[in-house]
Order: sequence, then structure tokens, then C-alpha cells
Amino acid sequence: MNADDLKRIAAERAVEWIEDGMTVGLGTGSTAYWAIRRIGERVKEGLSIRAAASSVRSERLAEELGIPLVPLEAIGRFDVTIDGADEVDDRLNLIKGGGGALLREKVLADASDRFIVIVDGTKLVGTLGAFPLPVEIVPFGANLTLNRLKELGVDPIVRESGGERYVTDNGNWIADCRFGTIDDPKSLTVRLNQIPGVVDNGLFVGMTWAVVAAGSDGGVKVLK
Ligand code: 5RP
Repeated sequence: MNADDLKRIAAERAVEWIEDGMTVGLGTGSTAYWAIRRIGERVKEGLSIRAAASSVRSERLAEELGIPLVPLEAIGRFDVTIDGADEVDDRLNLIKGGGGALLREKVLADASDRFIVIVDGTKLVGTLGAFPLPVEIVPFGANLTLNRLKELGVDPIVRESGGERYVTDNGNWIADCRFGTIDDPKSLTVRLNQIPGVVDNGLFVGMTWAVVAAGSDGGVKVLK
């Protein structure tokens, strides 16, 4: 089985948690893609939900698939949000933002009764930090914000895509920061978010309701 098969298997298992009448948050990335596809199929089969997406990309996909989207202003809480992750530690804390949507993803995760994370098993780690931590920064005074990040002992790399600076859906930039092993994600997230030019960072601490991980043999593990 290839990585895409495993992403699809994890995604489809998570979508089983969605029931009629629910308000559903749609994640971003190549794993969330499969969840949105499956939700689209279930909507065609008669599932009645309303949804909102964590990125313009996912919103377009949902529209194409006929998933009923509602403005965030019309949503108090999400029953379920399904999203991918770049790393999951043994306490189900996450690094997210490899796809650049971390801020909107965190807004949705925080407003969700059940934040379900879907991954292939290679993303499960003991301790976070092998994946560079994405930090969303405002373009204004970015050099000053990067200096503040350097004071935390990292060499932030401003993300580019196709030879151009990557700009998030919120008009911001992403600084990818290699902290090495992150033993205390909670205190790191507080320190990062205290820097004025930092909008948010890709550490999701204590937000996960369940992780669905597909192993290389196609078997599914649910971690809670
Ligand atoms: C986007 C994300 C993604 O969920 C994360 O990068 C995982 O992506 P993929 O499923 O493509 O591996 O956080 O901002």
C-alpha cells in the first residue's frame, strides 16, 4: 500500500464519526483531502450536514463536491473537525502547518467538540520536533520577528513555494523553525505566541479528541 492509500483509509475511518445534523470542520492537506472526498460521497448518499473549511483550497474542494458550506458567523461550535497532522506525539499533541493552514486549522480545532486527527502511521512519534515547526508571522517588521525567533535558538526559514514567498490565506508568512526535540510543547507555544509579530504556531497542545492512524499493512489504530 502506498502513502496515499493509508491516508485514505485513515480519513474514511474518521468520516464514520459524522452523523446527520452535525456541523463539520474540514481540514487541509493531502490526508484531509480524502476525508472531504468521503464526506462529499456521503452527502450525495443523503447525509445532511453543514460544514466550514480551514482553507480556501479545502473550501473549493468542498464546493465542487456539493458539501453544504455555511459562513463561520453562522456556527457556534463544530461537532466534529477532521484534519491531518505532520507529527503526533504520545500525548496526542501535534505539529501542524506543513500545508500552511495552521491558523485557520487551530481556530476550527479549538471550536470543535471532537477534533479528529488522521495520519498514516509514520507521523506517530514519541516526542515532537523532527518536523520543522511552522510559525505564522505578519509581514510587517518580519525581520524583527525573525530576530525574536532566533533568540529562541532557531534559524527560521521563511517558506517559499515555486520560487516565491509563500503567503497564507490570511496574508501572512510562514517561518519554519527547527527546534529539535520539543520536550515541553505547551511552554514553547506560549513563548512563541508572546512575540508580537507571531500570529500563531503549529503546535496543537491538548486539542486532540482522537487520532486515527493507518499502519503500513492498512490496519487502523484509534488513539484517544
Ligand atoms: C496543513 C496541515 C496538514 O494537515 C498537515 O501538513 C498534514 O498534511 P498532509 O495530510 O498533506 O500530510 O497542517 O496546514
